[in-house]
Amino acid sequence: MRAVFSGKQKGTSVQWVKVTVRPVEIKGEFNLQFSYFDEKKDITKNYPLAEAVHKVNGLLALPFRNLFVESNAGNVQVNFSKKGKALVKESKSAAAPTPPNLAHDRDKPRLLSDENARPFLQMVGIMTQDGRIRADMQRKYKQINEFLRLLDETASFEAWSGEPIHITDFGCGNAYLTFAIYFYLHDILKLKTHVTGVDVNADLIERHQKKVESLGWEQLSFQVNRITDYQPDISPDIVIALHACDTATDDALAKGIQWGSKVIVCAPCCQHELQEQLSKFPVPDQMLPVFQDGILSERMGDILTDTFRATILRIMGYRTDVVQFVPIEHTAKNLMIRCLKTTQTGNKRWVDEYRKLKSFWKVTPYLERLLGKNHAQYFTESN
Ligand SMILES: C[S@@+](CC[C@H](N)C(=O)[O-])C[C@H]1O[C@@H](n2cnc3c(N)ncnc32)[C@H](O)[C@@H]1O
Repeated sequence: MRAVFSGKQKGTSVQWVKVTVRPVEIKGEFNLQFSYFDEKKDITKNYPLAEAVHKVNGLLALPFRNLFVESNAGNVQVNFSKKGKALVKESKSAAAPTPPNLAHDRDKPRLLSDENARPFLQMVGIMTQDGRIRADMQRKYKQINEFLRLLDETASFEAWSGEPIHITDFGCGNAYLTFAIYFYLHDILKLKTHVTGVDVNADLIERHQKKVESLGWEQLSFQVNRITDYQPDISPDIVIALHACDTATDDALAKGIQWGSKVIVCAPCCQHELQEQLSKFPVPDQMLPVFQDGILSERMGDILTDTFRATILRIMGYRTDVVQFVPIEHTAKNLMIRCLKTTQTGNKRWVDEYRKLKSFWKVTPYLERLLGKNHAQYFTESN
């Protein structure tokens, strides 16, 4: 049904951060589809079975750290320890075998479905007691599912070792996403998971905390705090933020970077901070039309803010891509920055690009200021 190769064994290097393999049917012929992910791009290739066998053998010869194979009969997971020992975990499938979906361009499945997540969906009020998704919750349901799917793609949960995963959801607000992540990892994937929702809104947090206590979900907790003031005992492996207002997204990104979190996924909200700086930008004649209309200059500010954020994350050693996470009709704030820590800080290409962009627009992004002196050598040329 699916195989995933990811990570690299200690002291080795692998060209790909992750490779996924799945069966597809193309023009009536059975193929295996290989998706290769590296620091900067994704490449997808389809091979007929005879050729695919060699490609799989090639992947098996590489020193990947984690291998995961899902089949009708069950799953096999192999994780290599730091000492190079292979830990093999096999589980038999409890469900009746189903044929794999071979559609080349199949719809992406929702991770939470009306069947597997019914108790959760009813508990948070997305589903009615008679099993219908509430009309006013359809968009939220879609957003949560898509956020989860893209997070899962980045974090490769299936290949996560047995260690507990610590996740912080900043600006959790009404916490649909926070509850959903906990339910998905803890109840569906059966992973050891600690999830914390953080928000400044004390009333909301009190309500969530009461719900958690009544459910007995011990590894899910909520804290009233400003993002910048939040100091957990254990640095989170994963930091997420869905529509955290304005610069709260930068606060969340900065926390993830400072903690060295493995995965950071944010869907930014409206933002104003850079707009303010851009209003003082000496617009060159050739660009005057861009700043003629409010909505265009606002969009320009948004694009620049997220470009600066993505470039800073790349400088900080994160494989970063900026993607659309739901169609625009679900929310206009449909951009996602997702990042996986893969390398050292200070890659020259990103440093150069960042400095040029900054010097052209004559601004200092808020995220740069948050990261402060510790990383100043990347952001500003020393004289
Ligand atoms: C637009 S809501 C999004 C809520 C939720 N993540 C969602 O998508 O449904 C933004 C939330 O961020 C919280 N927030 C804004 N700035 C914050 C900060 N500096 N520290 C903590 N929470 C913050 C607000 O209280 C609000 O609940």
